[in-house]
Amino acid sequence: MQIIHHLADMTRWSNEVIAGGKALALVPTMGYFHAGHLSLMRQAGRLADHVVVSLFVNSLQFGPREDLSRYPRDLQRDARLAENEKVDILFVPTSEEMYAPDFNTRVRVNGITDTLCGQQRPTHFEGVTTVVAKLFNIIKPHCAVFGQKDFQQLSVIRKMVRELNWDIEIFAHPIVREEDGLAMSSRNTYLSSEERSKALCLNKAIQHAKARFADGLDDSDLLISEIRDIISANSGVNIDYISVVDKDTLSDKEVIDSQSVLALAIKVGGTRLIDNCFMGSDSQISN
Ligand code: PAF
Repeated sequence: MQIIHHLADMTRWSNEVIAGGKALALVPTMGYFHAGHLSLMRQAGRLADHVVVSLFVNSLQFGPREDLSRYPRDLQRDARLAENEKVDILFVPTSEEMYAPDFNTRVRVNGITDTLCGQQRPTHFEGVTTVVAKLFNIIKPHCAVFGQKDFQQLSVIRKMVRELNWDIEIFAHPIVREEDGLAMSSRNTYLSSEERSKALCLNKAIQHAKARFADGLDDSDLLISEIRDIISANSGVNIDYISVVDKDTLSDKEVIDSQSVLALAIKVGGTRLIDNCFMGSDSQISN
């Protein structure tokens, strides 16, 4: 595995691969790899001849009071883990090259970024779409793999790709969970052991929602109030949102159906966690 830092070197490598008729898959990340990231890398390896993993803690997607400075970083460990997954290139650009001091361009998807996480984090998604657009242009992948845990991010990226006519196939990778059901996230490292056990209320809420839907419950207000009770039973846990939305438009659903997604965001102590589940079969959002 090669580590590339410079944008021009990355594009040169991609151009050669593409000229040789090979397919390229990209896994965009902010590093501090866990089993979820490694699983995305393996999926990318099945989809293309070569895999590029980008590792860039993207300042543009963090709000002024968010965790940019303390976001976990360990390049050596990440490089070791990526190498074991047969990644060809670990692309680790510098902030200076990605964002020149006068950088003033934003790629913004309107509408679906105003809801769910976008309500509390108004500039988050334009930070994500701007960096992903840059990565697509620098790396020129044929396909890219994103985790389904960031369900809204996935919808926003798909919409951007569609509306900007990029010939890049976007694949979703199912949420990877710890044995006890906590969705894997680099931010889980912020949790104390007490907070970590409280965070399990997310998976408890998801299991409850699936069971209630399977039993025939289709009233989203009722489901949301039941989930609110499950989560509120944990002191120190604050609910950001509990929503049942359409999987494509992200608009609220009054009646739950197989196209609905339950999306959750909570704060456990100072750590914001998200989770979601598709009320129909998971395969419907896998790509
Ligand atoms: O999901 C993430 O880790 C980030 O939002 C992404 C897609 C790498 C963009 O910085």
